[in-house]
Amino acid sequence: MHLLVTGGCGFIGSNFIQHMLAARDDLTIVNLDKLTYAGNRRNLAEVEERHLGRRYHFVHGDICDQELVPDLLARFPFDAVLNFAAESHVDRSINDPFPFITTNVVGTQNLLEAARRAGVPRFVHISTDEVYGTLGPTGQFTEDTPLAPNSPYSASKASSDLLARAYFHTYGMPVIVTRCSNNYGPFQFPEKLIPLVYLKASRGEPIPVYGDGLNVRDWIYVLDHCRGVEAALFRGTPGAIYNFGGDAERTNLDVVRTILHLTGKSEDLITFVTDRPGHDRRYAMAFARSTADLGWRPEVTFEDGMARTLAWYEANGAWLDEVQSGAYRQFMDAWYKTRQA
Ligand code: NAD
Ligand code: TYD
Repeated sequence: MHLLVTGGCGFIGSNFIQHMLAARDDLTIVNLDKLTYAGNRRNLAEVEERHLGRRYHFVHGDICDQELVPDLLARFPFDAVLNFAAESHVDRSINDPFPFITTNVVGTQNLLEAARRAGVPRFVHISTDEVYGTLGPTGQFTEDTPLAPNSPYSASKASSDLLARAYFHTYGMPVIVTRCSNNYGPFQFPEKLIPLVYLKASRGEPIPVYGDGLNVRDWIYVLDHCRGVEAALFRGTPGAIYNFGGDAERTNLDVVRTILHLTGKSEDLITFVTDRPGHDRRYAMAFARSTADLGWRPEVTFEDGMARTLAWYEANGAWLDEVQSGAYRQFMDAWYKTRQA
């Protein structure tokens, strides 16, 4: 089986590629990634060491590229496309929405169209619970909850979900959309809450908590998300949407306190700062359809996942330092020159 994974050098894509190559020996993966600030080839250094040029191939490119993408899809007989590539950070989308529209909307459209023309038999589009908007104190999002995105990020993701839907309904293209809650785990870029708090705590720096810190997210360990995407790829019904959640609703303050407790740091580091504009209050995912149709449910508890995640960051200080300084870019350039030679 031949898979095209986009955005495979990011947080979730790199975990997915590692998981799939380890779990199954009957597939090859081509990873198409633009290497934005969030894309780090070092995330896949072990995969490259073991599989590059055999079961794993890397293409440095943009999903918006209207020559490269059709060419790639026409040239290789892919059995499926998995679209992880995106601009993914809400705060960045508030500062500058344009790259979000370009990559998340135009890029997805470009991929869908090229996959349609090439007759790719499966297209899995990776999306988010944020497309449903925000919840009050009770209730959960189901796949039938109306879309009501509140940030430029979530609006761009909702737009791409609708394009995926249109390609199924108009062209009969076998598209599946997955929507997942907030992920955490190894290789997450330290602009997102959990690695950011770990980083600040380890340096004894103030930890910025937006607003009153009582916004709720439904946290899922990244490997559980990857298993969900895998299940949707192999067992999903074309045209269907599948929700994945972690069954782990926590306020941001709960999350921050857990990290401070596990790293032995003082809660005095908590610093309340001006709230994010349009900040969604609560997300919570119902995933009964994924359990019934895909046999999927999250397997890693929040406590276990946090312990694993903090242990990984603890053991990978060099990764964090390089991501912070931007040195990972030079490192990979040098590494690749050596390998090419
Ligand atoms: P990330 O920001 O860590 O990684 C994004 C990757 O996409 C990077 O490798 C980047 O270089 C690449 N990329 C960006 N623009 C590109 C382009 N134009 N062409 C090719 N590659 C490009 O993101 P992530 O957290 O791994 O999220 C992956 C996907 O999962 C996204 O679609 C996101 O919306 C979705 N998602 C994320 C979460 C979460 O909690 N992080 C939750 C649900 C869904
Ligand atoms: P984030 O990791 O950016 O994910 P998302 O906005 O996609 O849910 O943020 C998670 C929650 O943490 C969100 O409610 C915003 C909050 N937050 C802070 O309070 N401080 C921070 O420095 C960051 C990055 C996020």
